[in-house]
Amino acid sequence: MIRWALPLAGVTALALAAGFRSSAPVTVVIGGNSSGVLSPCGCTAPMSGGIKRKAQYVRSLGPRAMYLESGAQIRGTARQDVIKAETLSEAFASMGARAVAIGPTEFAAGAGLVLTMNNLSKGAVLSSDGTFGAPSGVRDLGELEVVVAGPADASLPPATDKPRVILFDGGLSEAKSSAAAKSQPALIVFQSQGDPVEEPTVENGVTYVSPGDKGRMLISLTLDGRTVGSFQRITLGPEVPDDPQVKRLYQTYLSRITTEDLLGKTLRTSNAAFVGSKACASCHGITYQKWKTTKHADAYHSIEAVGHGRDPDCVSCHVVGVTSTKGFLSRAKTPGLANVGCENCHGAGRNHAKNPKKFKLSKGGERTCLSCHTPENSPNFAFQEYWKRIQHR
Ligand code: HEC
Ligand code: HEC
Ligand code: HEC
Ligand code: HEC
Repeated sequence: MIRWALPLAGVTALALAAGFRSSAPVTVVIGGNSSGVLSPCGCTAPMSGGIKRKAQYVRSLGPRAMYLESGAQIRGTARQDVIKAETLSEAFASMGARAVAIGPTEFAAGAGLVLTMNNLSKGAVLSSDGTFGAPSGVRDLGELEVVVAGPADASLPPATDKPRVILFDGGLSEAKSSAAAKSQPALIVFQSQGDPVEEPTVENGVTYVSPGDKGRMLISLTLDGRTVGSFQRITLGPEVPDDPQVKRLYQTYLSRITTEDLLGKTLRTSNAAFVGSKACASCHGITYQKWKTTKHADAYHSIEAVGHGRDPDCVSCHVVGVTSTKGFLSRAKTPGLANVGCENCHGAGRNHAKNPKKFKLSKGGERTCLSCHTPENSPNFAFQEYWKRIQHR
């Protein structure tokens, strides 16, 4: 895996060489599959990705490198997804993206959003869906041609003399058997979960690559005619500084979700009566004192400190009862329900605190931890080891 400092050296050498040659290979940088992740959550360090680092990397390559964004940018149609799509589009414009693929996930949020994304990305949007007066699915970028296609597209525009790059809305096996593969492209960018593959797949003269998921990594390669070379995976770790312009866009994103009070508008699906950890102290005094010393007791502060205190993407695991009408609302309205408290693991306790003999609470166990300590947010989680740090008997 290539780290931040290395590809720069290679690309600089390449750019110099380009000055002396008439038909130099083109550097193509590909991101995509952001799935609504504009920035890594930071629950465990280090995490790769995010538009701030991506912009820094892409900008550092200079205007000759072509940045292509391969799609699946959002994963839903809620207001927050729309604001994310708008922010991503502005960030892609700032990076000088030459093509931004959109597919069914973006279309599901409505034709208005598609047109807005096209405007905000300075006309970079490419779509294979001809309805709603959407932008076209083909673009001539001079040295190459970019086409957006999906598994359902039965025919593609005829091949030209330019090397074709297809941004494919589907996985590798779908891509291989698609009409897109038969249109003689040089390169197909497919979508995949996890990290990008270490090496491109080549089959019947077509090279297949993927940027992996959640906007965590980029891939970079050169196209010399139809020949794909210098394939690299770029990890966007903390060593990559934030791009100042896109950092401002990201701050605007956070202030929009805060100002629109998206957290206040989230759907609350239960009426479970939460009461707060302090209410347990009178009878479970030692337990309460022990809990106070754990990181759980300060978990809301951790997200406030990074500007995400009103972000529905974060709050669910950092406070008590966000899906209940009697759960966390805000630090001001429900101070006792900020942070991870007793009731995250033992269940809503208002009734138990009033009458412990009649209303019992369960002890819980490893399963309760896993709802928050997911492989993504807490990759080092091991019950025995973590339990030792919070046990309260
Ligand atoms: C699915 C549950 C979940 C969600 C959603 C979540 N977190 Fe976390 N977060 C955790 C867990 C679990 C930890 C502790 C991880 C560990 O130490 O193993 C944590 C830890 C943290 C920490 C403390 C890291 C440290 O160095 O101590 C920060 C900061 C944080 N999260 C920020 C965020 C932000 C910002 C978001 C939203 C973008 C978010 N979290 C969303 C579960 C979550
Ligand atoms: C008025 C005193 C009182 C308060 C307040 C109280 N509890 Fe209890 N709790 C008890 C008693 C007494 C028991 C034992 C009940 C039994 O076994 O019949 C108990 C049992 C429990 C158990 C089960 C332990 C086991 O061995 O199964 C849990 C978990 C628990 N309490 C959590 C809480 C939480 C969380 C709160 C705050 C929301 C809370 N309690 C508030 C008195 C209280
Ligand atoms: C409601 C979500 C949630 C549940 C349930 C939960 N945790 Fe956590 N846990 C967190 C968050 C969030 C943090 C990060 C707190 C911080 O540093 O801000 C965390 C941090 C921790 C830490 C501190 C890690 C460190 O960096 O030292 C330990 C230990 C831990 N949890 C153990 C557990 C265990 C064991 C369970 C199950 C019995 C559990 N947690 C259940 C959300 C949860
Ligand atoms: C992160 C999850 C978590 C949090 C937060 C938490 N507990 Fe627990 N608690 C557990 C688990 C898991 C057990 C069961 C341990 C076992 O079975 O050995 C437990 C056990 C207990 C017991 C039974 C103790 C015994 O003797 O077996 C009580 C009472 C209790 N917790 C009360 C509380 C109170 C009160 C708070 C808040 C001040 C709290 N817990 C916070 C997870 C949690």
